[in-house]
Amino acid sequence: MFAFKPNFTMNGKITFTMIKPSAFSQGYTGQILTMIENAGFLIKAMKKVRLSQEQAGSFYEIHRGKPFYEELVVFMSSGPIVAAVLEKENAVESFRMLIGATDPAKAEPGTIRKLFGKNMGENAVHGSDSDENAILESGFFFPAIDLL
Ligand code: CMP
Repeated sequence: MFAFKPNFTMNGKITFTMIKPSAFSQGYTGQILTMIENAGFLIKAMKKVRLSQEQAGSFYEIHRGKPFYEELVVFMSSGPIVAAVLEKENAVESFRMLIGATDPAKAEPGTIRKLFGKNMGENAVHGSDSDENAILESGFFFPAIDLL
């Protein structure tokens, strides 16, 4: 599934995000994308897609076995998402600041998760936690050619 060939010139400059089913179905996609662009990110690739449970399970493989894994997989396959690759200097860290803490209740005011998240599961968006995962996660959804 992770067939993407990393291009290390992108290292540090890209991150990967998903607008989760709850945020998408509540009509927050436009507002979230506007916040992302206004924060200086360039959308390098983007698509709306509905994940199967198998695909969601594979994407979140790293969390398999954790207490929230099953619920996460069911939720992430419950409706369409928007997946996107974002470019900016220091992209991973910068995007994590923009979205706020995983738990919306603990996220800073004005962050995407504070504004559009409901709880730890329905936290509006995913953001990569490292440069390495940004490349792997981008490759899960997009062939390298889509990022040129
Ligand atoms: P995300 O950034 O997509 O990465 C994994 C997701 O698991 C996380 O956001 C949360 O939505 C979800 N999750 C649910 N419970 C927890 C938890 N206790 N700790 C971390 N992540 C959790």
